[in-house]
Amino acid sequence: MQAHILKVRVDALREEAHGVRSFSISRLDGLPFERYEAGAHIDVTSPSGIVRQYSLCGDPECLESQIFAVKKEDASRGGSRSLHEEVMVGTELSVGAPRNLFKLEEDASEHILIGAGIGITPLLSMAYQLVKRQARFTLHYFARSEAHAAFMNLLTRAPFDQHIKVHFGVQREHLEDALDTCLREANANAHVYTCGPAPFMDAVVESAQKRLPADAIHLERFKAEPAPSNDTQLDTFDVQLASSGQTVRVDTKTSIVEALASIGIEVDTSCGEGVCGTCMIDVVSGEPEHRDHCLSKAERASNSVICCCVSRSKSPVLVLDL
Ligand code: FES
Repeated sequence: MQAHILKVRVDALREEAHGVRSFSISRLDGLPFERYEAGAHIDVTSPSGIVRQYSLCGDPECLESQIFAVKKEDASRGGSRSLHEEVMVGTELSVGAPRNLFKLEEDASEHILIGAGIGITPLLSMAYQLVKRQARFTLHYFARSEAHAAFMNLLTRAPFDQHIKVHFGVQREHLEDALDTCLREANANAHVYTCGPAPFMDAVVESAQKRLPADAIHLERFKAEPAPSNDTQLDTFDVQLASSGQTVRVDTKTSIVEALASIGIEVDTSCGEGVCGTCMIDVVSGEPEHRDHCLSKAERASNSVICCCVSRSKSPVLVLDL
């Protein structure tokens, strides 16, 4: 469950590309939205009751409305299909507060944004922010064809037109070369941001790592992939609350979130798959077995935080900041 739910109204719908629709929403109470940073996402509850995470893709400085875009997935379990088929102008929805695991790096000398398909959405809000900052940036947009590329009306006009490079119909076997070309002239303090299908992001990371350190490469996933198995994982472990010393056992069939709920400690959750970061808790001691898809490499290496919906523990006791 997640706190801070807002009731909103859909003010406008736009077909942005083949199978991609954008939703412009405003608060039902008429108040402005809270400020957010580019790269943030929100939880949206569709009329079917299914909650999904969608990046905000409008201008972060516009507080009267928020915009998100949804690709209708053929294999939808009801989230994207419901938003496409059951929402009209005037429909009321529930959304969560913005959360951001995909922030622009303040100190970068250059920003290289590389998106594919619906992965353009967080990069578009970054582009708004970078234009305002007069920062040096390029937005590379890969799509199957122009008809599959969202927001082209916006991206091909000022102020974005001088920053965008489109790559339509690049075949899998040519992707590595295309990405190497995008990144060839990256300067030493450049940061790379990518969002799109998992194999595409993996290719971007591989190409970027030839030139840049791992902490200069940022990505956002919206779908969980199968968690890697790891022999060092313990079958059961204890979670201890730092504030009271109370301990609860987490067995093989239970998540940390469920174990904590059994002793009355409710942790906010949303995706339940390790992609959204809602359930992150600081780790006081112990070594987490990270099974999420949202922490940065630095966060994983420091073992200072854990996503409690999917991650486990390598050490017999994990002390959490609760
Ligand atoms: S609830 Fe989304 S990462 Fe745990």
